[in-house]
Parts: sequence; structure tokens; C-alpha cells
Amino acid sequence: MSNEIQQASILTRTDVNGVAVLTIDNPPVNALSQALRNALVHHIREVGNDKCVEAVIITGTSGRFIAGADIKEFKGPILDPSLPDVLKAIEQLDKPVIAAVEGVALGGGAELALACHYRCATGDAKFGFPEVKLGIIPGAGGIPRLLRLVGPKITLDLVAGGRPIDCETAFAFGLVDKIIEQADKIGAAIEYALECVGKPLRRTSLLSVATFDADAFNVQCVAWRSRARGQASVIAAVDAVADSWDRGFAEADARCRLEFTRLRTSDQANALRHLFFAERQAQHVPGLDSVQAANIASVAVVGAGTMGRGIAVACLIAGYCTLLIDVDEEALRRAALAIGVAVEKTIKDKAGKSDKASQILSRLSTAQTLQDANNSDLIVEAVFEDIDVKSSVLTQIAMAAPPQATICTNTSYLDIDQLAGAVSSPERFIGLHFFAPAEIMRLVEVIRAKTSGEQAVATGLRFARSLSKIPVLAGVCDGFIVNRILAAYRREMEYLLEEGALPREIDAALERFGMAMGPFAVADLSGLDIAWARRKRLAPMRDPQERYVKIADQLCEMGRLGRKTGAGWYSYVDGTRQLDPLVEELVVNSSREKGITRQPISEAEIVDRAIGSMISEARKILAEGIALRASDIDLAITNGLGFPAWRGGPLYYADRMAENQG
Ligand code: CAA
Repeated sequence: MSNEIQQASILTRTDVNGVAVLTIDNPPVNALSQALRNALVHHIREVGNDKCVEAVIITGTSGRFIAGADIKEFKGPILDPSLPDVLKAIEQLDKPVIAAVEGVALGGGAELALACHYRCATGDAKFGFPEVKLGIIPGAGGIPRLLRLVGPKITLDLVAGGRPIDCETAFAFGLVDKIIEQADKIGAAIEYALECVGKPLRRTSLLSVATFDADAFNVQCVAWRSRARGQASVIAAVDAVADSWDRGFAEADARCRLEFTRLRTSDQANALRHLFFAERQAQHVPGLDSVQAANIASVAVVGAGTMGRGIAVACLIAGYCTLLIDVDEEALRRAALAIGVAVEKTIKDKAGKSDKASQILSRLSTAQTLQDANNSDLIVEAVFEDIDVKSSVLTQIAMAAPPQATICTNTSYLDIDQLAGAVSSPERFIGLHFFAPAEIMRLVEVIRAKTSGEQAVATGLRFARSLSKIPVLAGVCDGFIVNRILAAYRREMEYLLEEGALPREIDAALERFGMAMGPFAVADLSGLDIAWARRKRLAPMRDPQERYVKIADQLCEMGRLGRKTGAGWYSYVDGTRQLDPLVEELVVNSSREKGITRQPISEAEIVDRAIGSMISEARKILAEGIALRASDIDLAITNGLGFPAWRGGPLYYADRMAENQG
């Protein structure tokens, strides 16, 4: 017997055999807006008073449970009812409340699921506490409830790391009580709810924290703190877990709420929210929202070097049939082995298991001729960074590919307008600039050449998104957004070398500012040769009056190309970075040759000049229309250059600095 009580609303109640099914329908992601919180309180009260209701299910529509708080509401004051009040009402209900989770249960959504007495979930469910990424910590009982359900070790990883876990892992951890079939989610959840009727209600807040290895936990706390790199929310998350496990629920809950409230309006939270919305906005390109992207089922990657392999791994993991093409049979063999290892590792890191690797790798095929790309929907050229080599390969790809295929180049610096000249029907040609390691780095610059058609650009954006990447549209210029800013930043750092600083001082200063790595350590990691090739290419155009620092060229001429050759700006013994007196000698010589008197340079000046160089290049890029919006540049630089996300990106940071000074 089914009784439809309320329809076409943010929350619908349907009663079936004494079970009230509350279905959330709050597009686009079922966020816990004030309206939804109100509706939940109203319905919880109603079902509590309804003698015909024996159990309650809370679930979501459109393949989602709840993606957390409505982030748009974070700017203003929190309006009643607060989420903790809603969750209290749910947990205190005197009949079983079951969360039936399909898709994402994130942040406040996961906290709501924990406040239910039982949880069932479909195989695609994902549970996560991404609050730290927004500069906050879970503040609606999530931490003390998690501690009681899964113990301090798992709580700490979930809350400080912010990465979601899949349904199987959640089940293994005890977050999910029953896995149900997706096809019959409601039917199975009702069956489970009826099983729960008559059982003692399991209120998570009343459970106790199981015993655990306190020493190992302390080591884990130290490790998380050291990874925070200035991000206050990560430190706050570690402190909250460490201070909560031995407190009563109410006390721990109040402490976490206080910390959440303090962080919510902090500068770091504002900056991280700016990037959250920047990431969503970057997908919307004026004039393209109504353009139909091409359907992509199969991808070919041309070139089995480091970039080609990484791109192939990303495509395979995203579910694409992937053809790797290289003329060199041995290179293909080595690439296939490396791809196997990378897929295993990526899957393990992502989902905590490696059993799907063989299935993923079954989508990989290899070929030695470009003609084999004749069935591919999208082809990414990732061959040697040389305009003639790339032009010749692109001409052949265009001849072999189906006429409707999208053709992409993965060049880091070359002139894509010039490369377009090598492609017949160049409206299907764009740049897709991946960053190394391509299977891990999330940024992809989608480069629109003068001749690129709207559909090709829309396809590039959607394709990159389908790889779980962050696409940012850029126009053609030397280095696009990220490498152009990187070149300006490096140039300024090399001036600092000549004026008195040493690589280790510059790296240390910028790492303390929050950069993932200092510029010289990064150069060693990514290899000095690509930037060297670029400098050689640009040498004929360089103004002879322009200040030019030769130290990087000298290192390259000595074969010191970075970590891969065991030496660059530093030397490496068994992979460990060491200072090298030879580099200091080159630096001091360079100052002497130019007649520059070396002076001590303060950390503040290093940071000011380094970040200032990024900001001024970013402004030029914006003024020239290479980037559509300031927020696109912020997104690209935080994800492509390791600029601290909690500072919001260079242009956001510059605005805040100006506000503070003004
Ligand atoms: N609040 C408000 N809007 C949100 C939102 C949220 N929590 N999550 C997503 N949106 C919006 C996006 O801005 C986007 O809007 P536009 O279409 O206008 O650009 C739209 O929903 C779709 O989002 P995506 O493009 O990201 O869609 P997707 O399908 O690729 O991903 C998702 C969906 C996995 C849910 C992803 O959006 C996501 O991760 N969202 C954030 C989840 C999150 O961080 N939750 C925790 C919030 S903090 C919290 O919950 C603590 C608390 O209770 C106080």
C-alpha cells in the first residue's frame, strides 16, 4: 500500500508498508540548503508523531544522496535550523531511521548518514569528508560519530585527507551496514528497514570509541600535520580528532562545532571556496554551453614517452578504449609494462584496492602505425617537443583519423596556430596540455587555436572533465597560462640568484609560503631540458639588451638535467636531494661576471618578488585574453604550479593583499 503524501517538492514523503521514505530532490547535487534542512525537520517531526510509521528511510534522487552543505550559504550567517539540530532530531527519533545512500554522501551528507541508526548503500556510493578542502572541518557531529564507528585511525585519514571512500571500503570499515542493489534501491531499503524494526536503535553518539594503538595514532597525527603546508583546516582536523576521542560525545561535538564556526569565515576558507567555484565556472565557456561535444568512446595516444604513457593511463582509468601508437616496438613494450604498474598504483591509491587493474588494462592496445588510429574518436599527439616533428606527425594523424575525430596536441610551448597548419580540416584541432605525471596531475589546459571549431573546444573540455581532470581554456601564446607564468617566475628567481640568494634559500622561502615545492626543486623534478629547448628556440628573438641568466644553460650543458640524471640545481644520492657546492660556485661566478655585488636577500623579499612576478605575468595573460577570467588563472596556477590553494591563487591573493593595504 503506497500513500503519496507530498509531491514535487525538495523532500517527498512516500509511505510503504509502515515505512516512510523521505526522498530528497534538491538539484543539482541535493545540497543541504536551509530549505532542505527545514523540510527535513518538518518531516522528521511528522513521521515521529505518525503512529502508522514504524521506520523511516532518508534517500536522494538523481543518483545522489547528499553532496553536503550548500556552499553558497557559507558566506553569510548560518540560518536555522542548523545541521546539528537536524541531525539531533534524526538520531533522537524513537523509530529506526535508515540512510539509503546512492552516489555521493559528502560532508554534511555523510554526517547525516552517520546520524541515522543504520546505513545501507548501493555499490556506487561514495562517502567522504571533503571539508578540509573548503578550509573547514566537519562541524555537525561527524568527527565524534566517526570515532565511535570506525576508530581514530580511519577517522583521521578521512577527515584530514578529505578523500572519499567507495562503498566496499565503507562497508569494510563499518560505515555501511548493508550493500543493496542499485536497480531496486527503494525496495531493498524498505526490506532492510523492516528488518531493523524491533531491533534496539543504534544511536552512534551513544557508542564508545574502541581501543586503539595510541602510539601509532600519534605518529599518524605528526605525519598529517607535516603534510598541511600551512593549510589551517588540516591542522584543525588533526587537532579535532586527537582532542575528541577521549571526550564524551556532547563535549567533542561542541568543540568541533566551535572550530567549524571559527574556520568557516576565515581567509583560508574564503580562498578555498573561491577555487571551488572557479573550478565549476571554468567548465562554462561563454558561447559554448549550448554546443554539443562529440561522443568519445575510443582514444589514441601517439608517442609512448612519459607524457604519452601518463595520458594513456588517465584515459584507461576513465574507461576509454585506448590505443597507444609509437613506431618503436621496444618503446611500446616498455610503455605497456609501465602503464600496467601505473594503473595498479593509481587504482590502489584511489580506491584502496587493485583488483580492477586487469579489467582496465584489457582496454589498452598498441600499434606501430598511425593508420591504426582510423577508428579513434579523439587522438592526442604526445611526441617529441619539436615543431617539425609534431607537424609531420599531425599531418599523418589527420590523414589517418576519421574525418569527425578530434585531433589534439599535447605541446607545452609550441605555437598551436602554426601546428594547425599541418592538420587538414583544422577546425577539429585543439591543444590538450597535460602536466606530468599526467595520470596524477589534475590540470589540463585546453588550447583554442585561431582555427579551432566550437565543437572541438567543447569536446576537449568535456573529454578532460571525463578524465576527472580540471580543464581550463587558454588561448595561444608561448607557454599558454601555466608555463608562461612559470617562465616569468623562474626568470625572477634566477635574477635573485645573481643578486645574492642561493637555490636552497629561495626554495625554502617559497615552500614556507606554501608552494608545494620550491622552483629549483621543481625544475630538477620535471627536468631542465624542456625549458632549455625553449630558451634555445627563443634565443634568436631575444633582445640582446635583456638581462639573461646563463646558470640553467650551464647546468644543462654539463648534462645536469635534474633528478633523472642524478644532478641539476641539486645533486641526488639514492634519490635524496643534496646541496652541491658546484652550483653555488656557478651562481657566485655569474654574479661576479656581471659585476653584481651579492647582498643578503630576506625571505620576505624572495617571496614578494617570486609571487609578484607571477601576479604581473598573470595580469598580462588576462589583459591579452589568453585566459577568460582571473579565476581560471588562479585555478590553473594552484593546480599546475603548486601555488597554495588556501591562498586562492595569485590573482585572488593579489586582490586580498591590496584590500589589506588599502
Ligand atoms: N553546494 C552548492 N553548490 C554545489 C555544491 C554544494 N555542496 N556541490 C556542487 N554544487 C554545484 C556546483 O557549483 C555546480 O553548479 P553550476 O552547475 O552552477 O556550475 C553544480 O552543483 C554541479 O557541480 P559539479 O560540476 O561539481 O558536478 P559533478 O557532477 O562533477 O560533481 C559533486 C558533483 C561530486 C557533488 C561535486 O560537485 C562536489 O564534490 N561538490 C562538493 C561537495 C563538498 O565539498 N561537500 C562538502 C561541503 S562542506 C559540508 O558539507 C560541511 C557542512 O555540512 C557544514
